[in-house]
This record gives sequence, C-alpha cells and structure tokens, in this order.
Amino acid sequence: MANQEEPGKTKIELIDKGPARITGDFTIAGFENIRGEVFLCRCGESSNKPFCDGTHRSLEDD
Ligand code: FES
Repeated sequence: MANQEEPGKTKIELIDKGPARITGDFTIAGFENIRGEVFLCRCGESSNKPFCDGTHRSLEDD
C-alpha cells in the first residue's frame, strides 16, 4: 500500500536534473485546462515555459 498513490491526491515529484512532475488533482492559474499530469521546467531553458520541453536533457553534460 505504501507505493500506491491516493486517487485525486496531488503529488509533486522533483526529477533529478529535470522537471517537476505534478500529478493528481491540481489547477495551475492561467492553465486551467491542464489536468492529471504536468511537467514543469526547473532548468529555465524550456521554450515552452512553464512547461518542460526536454531541453534539460541537452544540459546534462554542462
Ligand atoms: S526541466 Fe525540462 S526543459 Fe527545463
């Protein structure tokens, strides 16, 4: 039971050298149409902020 997520509960997971993954029941002001799962950029280099576009992968060796 420890590894199962509670339905509807908001969870924020910080992915190592990557985005913040948010799952569950949440609302982002200005983006109310996004539900269930989103990846927010933490590297500052996404061309689609505030969302991750995968650019962080090219920064891993810097
Ligand atoms: S964290 Fe993925 S582009 Fe910034």
